[in-house]
Amino acid sequence: MPLPTRVRIIDVGPRDGLQNEKQPVPAAAKIELVARLQAAGLREIEVTSYVSPKWVPQMADNHEVMSGIARAPGVRYSVLTPNMKGFEAAARDRPDEILVFGAASEAFSQKNINCSIAESIERFAPVVQAARAAGIAVRGSISCSVGCPYEGEIAPAKVGHVAGLMKAIGVERVDVADTIGVGTPRKVQKAIEATLGHYDVDHVSGHFHDTYGQALANTYAALELGVWNFQSSVAGLGGCPYAKGATGNVATEDVVYLLDGLGIDTGIDLNKLVDAGACISEQLGRKPNSRVATAILNKRAG
Ligand code: HMG
Ligand code: MG
Repeated sequence: MPLPTRVRIIDVGPRDGLQNEKQPVPAAAKIELVARLQAAGLREIEVTSYVSPKWVPQMADNHEVMSGIARAPGVRYSVLTPNMKGFEAAARDRPDEILVFGAASEAFSQKNINCSIAESIERFAPVVQAARAAGIAVRGSISCSVGCPYEGEIAPAKVGHVAGLMKAIGVERVDVADTIGVGTPRKVQKAIEATLGHYDVDHVSGHFHDTYGQALANTYAALELGVWNFQSSVAGLGGCPYAKGATGNVATEDVVYLLDGLGIDTGIDLNKLVDAGACISEQLGRKPNSRVATAILNKRAG
């Protein structure tokens, strides 16, 4: 199969990237990050989560951030909503898309959202219904699609099972997430193929954390299956508070460099993206966790 000719990237840096930061990150810095991402050409940005502030304190400023961003036309702003309480709060801030987030692993579901997979689907169903009735798009995330920090390797059939449950409650598209970045290309392809039993390829995206340095290879493996939607995080920010030791998403800079080299259109300006990553990294007091950003910044300095 030929590779896709264009790719749509959702930058999840403001949410997945920053949710795990121990130091407080001011809402103004998050708002600036969103502004810089859209200026770099991102057309989808995952901004924040409406979860319990006791569980994820870093996202407690969700309303401040959502009401502070200057929305650009044609950009889709998404937020996480695990239950009706989260959805009701989110809806007041008018997201374009909400994300319900489940898992292919029972243990991870319990640790992350405090319920079983079956219970999570019961909680998501009214959220999905309410969102769609309000004209808000709905995405679903399937965590631990190849491996789980508590259960180890996850069978593709478990991923397919959750994809089927999400489809049945009206989730419009799904993310196959390698939460802890343990996947390798063939394993990731098997998880995606299981999902393709329920969703067509236009409605499946790849969400790869880069803990073991395999995320670019996994991205290529997903492209080989025709997948053209991906999530990544500027400057490689992030990690999940309930997946200890897992590092951030693959850096958006690295994905864009790969795609540029393959002649695949993303609509993203790599130089502006590097600036966005450098800016938030400086705010966090460290260097961008992206090989491409490091190379470009070194070249500029030299
Ligand atoms: P729970 O304790 O089972 O919920 O938490 P509950 O309904 O029993 O309520 C307990 C308390 O939480 C109550 O407050 C509720 O009001 C409050 P209290 O009476 O004790 O003061 N509460 C809420 N507050 C704000 N917003 C809400 C909300 N719901 C209840 N929406 C819950 C269940 C899901 C809320 C909790 O487990 C939680 O917040 N978990 C955080 C999950 C999370 O954000 N994880 C990280 C994101 S997922 C991720 O990173 C993976 C992804 O990137 C893909 C991948 O890489 O795999 C997407
Ligand atoms: Mg993630």
